[in-house]
Amino acid sequence: MRVEDLDFRVDSGVYAPAEDSFLLMDAIDLDRDDVFLDVGCGAGLLTLGAARIAKRVVTTDISLEAARNTLRNLKRNGLTHLCSVMQSDLLDSIPSAVLFSVIAFNPPYLPCDGATTDMDHALLGGAKGTELAERFIQQAIRHLRKGGSVFVVSSSLANIKDLKNVMVNCGLDIETVASLSVFFEKIQVLEGIQQ
Ligand SMILES: C[S@@+](CC[C@H](N)C(=O)[O-])C[C@H]1O[C@@H](n2cnc3c(N)ncnc32)[C@H](O)[C@@H]1O
Repeated sequence: MRVEDLDFRVDSGVYAPAEDSFLLMDAIDLDRDDVFLDVGCGAGLLTLGAARIAKRVVTTDISLEAARNTLRNLKRNGLTHLCSVMQSDLLDSIPSAVLFSVIAFNPPYLPCDGATTDMDHALLGGAKGTELAERFIQQAIRHLRKGGSVFVVSSSLANIKDLKNVMVNCGLDIETVASLSVFFEKIQVLEGIQQ
């Protein structure tokens, strides 16, 4: 996905794309037949990149500010016609009949409880750092087309083993498709493919 030439702005209180965002974006190879779901869109980096390639893009974030930021970025770049943006806790607002070929989430993964502000929600992933990612996987597989892929970011600081167990128990074949060492942690992108 390419976004360098887009008019992309990050509003106050919204997660600014960082190494994890770009690692995930580079790991996803979409084509024009894909129907893509970006969970936890933040300012919309992945959504904008996908909107230039995929057939249809749906985007959610629990933060209203983040959802609005993504919508504004789509409007700035004339990409709204292919996208639906909604405020939602994970996939709660996605109707059960709607299926995707690719679903991605760069979740908050720092092992810490007690998120209250929007920025906490962008960073803190629960006591193990994987609670939200695990809940995401359990919801995502119900919206995945046969043969579809789910991408999720995690960190060596979090309990990746538990996350992988949940993915396996959900019937996904897992591969680590990208990784990057940043200061004191190793960020990883896991791809789960539905058999
Ligand atoms: C690390 S940021 C990633 C933002 C963007 N996808 C990126 O890669 O730059 C995590 C995002 O997930 C959102 N988020 C946190 N909890 C969520 C939930 N339960 N449902 C949906 N989005 C959530 C946060 O508001 C934040 O925008």
